[in-house]
Amino acid sequence: MRLSRYFLPVLKETPAEAQIVSHRYMLRAGMIKQASAGIYSWLPLGFKVLRKIENIVHEEQQRAGHIPMLMPTLQSADLWRESGRYDAYGPEMLRIRDRHDRDMLYGPTNEELITDIFRSYVRSYKDLPLTLYHIQWKFRDEIRPRFGVMRGREFYMKDGYNFDLTKEDALHAYNRHLVSYLRTYERMGLQAIPMRADSGPIGGDNTHEFLVLAETGESEVFYDSQITDLKFGDRQIDYDSVDQCQAVLEEFTSRYARTDETHDEAVWAEVPEDRRRVARGIEVGQIFYFGTKYSDAMGATVQNAEGEQVPVHMGSHGIGVSRLLGAIIEASHDDKGIIWPEGVTPFHVGIVNLKQGDEEADAACQALYDSFTTLGLEPLYDDRNERAGGKFATMDLIGLPWRITVGPRGLKNGVVELTSRRTGESEEMPPEEAVKKVAAIYAAL
Ligand SMILES: Nc1ncnc2c1ncn2[C@@H]1O[C@H](COP(=O)(O)OP(=O)(O)OP(=O)(O)O)[C@@H](O)[C@H]1O
Ligand SMILES: [Mg+2]
Repeated sequence: MRLSRYFLPVLKETPAEAQIVSHRYMLRAGMIKQASAGIYSWLPLGFKVLRKIENIVHEEQQRAGHIPMLMPTLQSADLWRESGRYDAYGPEMLRIRDRHDRDMLYGPTNEELITDIFRSYVRSYKDLPLTLYHIQWKFRDEIRPRFGVMRGREFYMKDGYNFDLTKEDALHAYNRHLVSYLRTYERMGLQAIPMRADSGPIGGDNTHEFLVLAETGESEVFYDSQITDLKFGDRQIDYDSVDQCQAVLEEFTSRYARTDETHDEAVWAEVPEDRRRVARGIEVGQIFYFGTKYSDAMGATVQNAEGEQVPVHMGSHGIGVSRLLGAIIEASHDDKGIIWPEGVTPFHVGIVNLKQGDEEADAACQALYDSFTTLGLEPLYDDRNERAGGKFATMDLIGLPWRITVGPRGLKNGVVELTSRRTGESEEMPPEEAVKKVAAIYAAL
């Protein structure tokens, strides 16, 4: 992409309404525009990152054997009356009446809809286990939408639902989700710690929230410092292996890590004092096992091997896809702007032409652009007629992890400059070498 042809409405001023850094940078970098309270348009740059995050979620869900589908945003109130949640959900549910006076709602979550799909088609234990998921917009009429995409009213969420014959099988599905979530967040450059959570209005007793540590997080968290040394890394896991998934669960959840809702002073006191940490965190996902709560209420049964009808054991598992943009920026920025981890960056590399119109500089930039494109990488080429300072400021703000600076002086010596956004370190090298270096970094992801 050439910046002169892109739509990147960068703001010079810091918008007054933005209280936290991720919100400020998302507005300033032209990623989002508020449409109404807690509802945003995703401008091209923001949309690109949203898609990257979404793709990682899809890849990791499917790696775990979970099946993608798509359910609508608008749902019928009748299904929610069956589960009893139409009245229980309260004012966070956006209720809508259609022209035939039918009660509808904009889905805040999808347990009812998916359970209805399941009971319509699945009859036998032989069709289990089954995990279906989708990534779809949700609406919750939050009393205080704030912090930009972090607490929106309309937000993008991956929600997955497992259906299993027994509690044991459903707990394996739970563990599978935990493993896949660890991989998912690490690919986005995040450490998200599974913390024992409160089951709240969805009910059930087995649940973890995944929290990214950040000062601006809305949850207070208590954890054993040893937990931040854990890394999932690139280990190979057989998602069908009960033992392997259970082992990961034990490794990542055996140390104390809880939110304020489940914090227990007596257990906390057993953690060695020098390892106790109290901090704040952003919830980027949650996994739940809730047994037969919905299958009982809605009659989602299958025939077991003995020929009896039994309710299926279920769980639901969410990832806050749109919130993740905010969480990643909270975890990765400096006073100049965003620093995207390579896994989610909107463009792989920025090319800055120090002297637009100079024949050699223009040709060298174009050659770099073509090389990256041929390799399947996406460069953002700042080909505007602007001063170098302005170009650097824009690149720093939008946070591409790598920048190549091209100018007539360097070209005389056959070199360009490759700069890391994270460390600020620059290195001069021939253009082909810069391409190779950047390509190798992305190939290793
Ligand atoms: N209002 C929101 N705006 C953006 N993302 C959200 C919002 N509410 C929930 N999410 C994201 O969706 C994920 C799954 O939804 P879940 O039902 O667990 O949310 P929740 O526990 O009600 O969230 P919270 O406690 O932050 O209100 C959450 O972990 C979070 O990352
Ligand atoms: Mg939650």
